[in-house]
Amino acid sequence: MLGNLMYCNPTRLYFGENALDNLGDELAKYGPNVMLTYGGGSIKKSGLYSQITAILKESGKQVFELPGVMPNPTTEKLYEGCKVAREHKIDLILAVGGGSVCDYAKAVSVSAWCEEDPWEKYYLRMEDVDNRIIPVGCVLTMAGTGSEMNGGAVITNNDSKLKIVHVFGDNVFPKFSILNPKLTYTLPQYQMVAGIYDIMNHITEQYFSNSDDNTSDYVMEGLMRSLIHSSRIALKNPEDYEARSNIMWTAAWALNSFIAQGKSADWMVHMIGQSIGGYTDATHGMTLSAISMAYYRFVCPYGLAKFKRFAVSVWDVDPAGKSDEAVAGEGLDRMEAWMRELGLVMNIRELGVTEDMLDGITKGSFITEGGYKVLTPEEIKAILKASM
Ligand code: NZQ
Ligand code: ZN
Repeated sequence: MLGNLMYCNPTRLYFGENALDNLGDELAKYGPNVMLTYGGGSIKKSGLYSQITAILKESGKQVFELPGVMPNPTTEKLYEGCKVAREHKIDLILAVGGGSVCDYAKAVSVSAWCEEDPWEKYYLRMEDVDNRIIPVGCVLTMAGTGSEMNGGAVITNNDSKLKIVHVFGDNVFPKFSILNPKLTYTLPQYQMVAGIYDIMNHITEQYFSNSDDNTSDYVMEGLMRSLIHSSRIALKNPEDYEARSNIMWTAAWALNSFIAQGKSADWMVHMIGQSIGGYTDATHGMTLSAISMAYYRFVCPYGLAKFKRFAVSVWDVDPAGKSDEAVAGEGLDRMEAWMRELGLVMNIRELGVTEDMLDGITKGSFITEGGYKVLTPEEIKAILKASM
């Protein structure tokens, strides 16, 4: 483990089929005014909405609802939430939904009492929070982003077509998150597999960096093996509790800063994927799957030893008698076969990307320096073209 580090994750997780039983005790820790925020209606269809509102009522809370949080939440929606939170002096924001709703709750929590335009302060200027933060709690209905246990909050600005993440500090992490794997059973298959690939990519973004011997890499290999195994079971039987629970647990550990310890991390697939999202509003996990193979095949020669290790340790490629290049290539072939097996989107055209968007998407892709190759804008464009 290289470098000096500090690790703290303050989110209290309740996990399992009875996890919701703990909501009442958590609510008791906060003041009376609760903002209940959720998405486009899946929680009403599943019956979760009625359960949550009953618990809120029993807890004597004054509830202010903020429905309609869209996938890839926007700045307009953020401003709407800030107004409600300020007007009603909200004591707790309860997010019930997927990563979009959890991200949104965190964005409102830091923005409601912000004196400036939060988009400019947090997303364009990337400044830290220096105002009051409203506590957030989550009831998660989709496994993927890790938003339930981290400080990330991704917001999209439709005017500038920019989709940007701000990773806030541990003072913004959800205070608690309730994870019942059964709540993910109702997810459409498209969303389930997009979430699974999001988890996979969170791990590979952190795995493909550095060359020192680091416990984090071994942990990641275990997480990836578990994810691949469970994904195949969940694909055949979405109501297999064991598989869905492993996927949900893996999602939290893939992006709660634990496996990032001692690593520099890449994040380039996410940077390009987010820019595609800014132009197309496509499902997050699919923006990642659609460019991943072109990206990893391009980067492979720059981090050959790690790609070889990935092939052997995660995909069980037998290295005997093969060159490093051949072993690494076979690993990527197996990853691609798994992605196709899941039915992921494998090209950006299918997400609505057209030739005339490529320059804008390239420009909107922030270039990171933590992976094996710092890309040039020309290389990003070439990866996009290869992903068409
Ligand atoms: O809106 P509703 O009706 O609830 O439907 C949602 C939505 O249409 C539906 N859904 C969720 N749970 C369901 C369900 N439908 C049926 N049954 C259920 N149990 O699924 C759709 C997608 O939901 P969304 O929350 O958008 O998906 P996801 O969890 O993938 O979140 C995506 C957002 O998170 C950001 C992404 O950029 C995107 O904006 N990310 C956040 C990160 C973080 N905080 O660290 C990191 C990620 O890399 C990612 O960027
Ligand atoms: Zn992601």
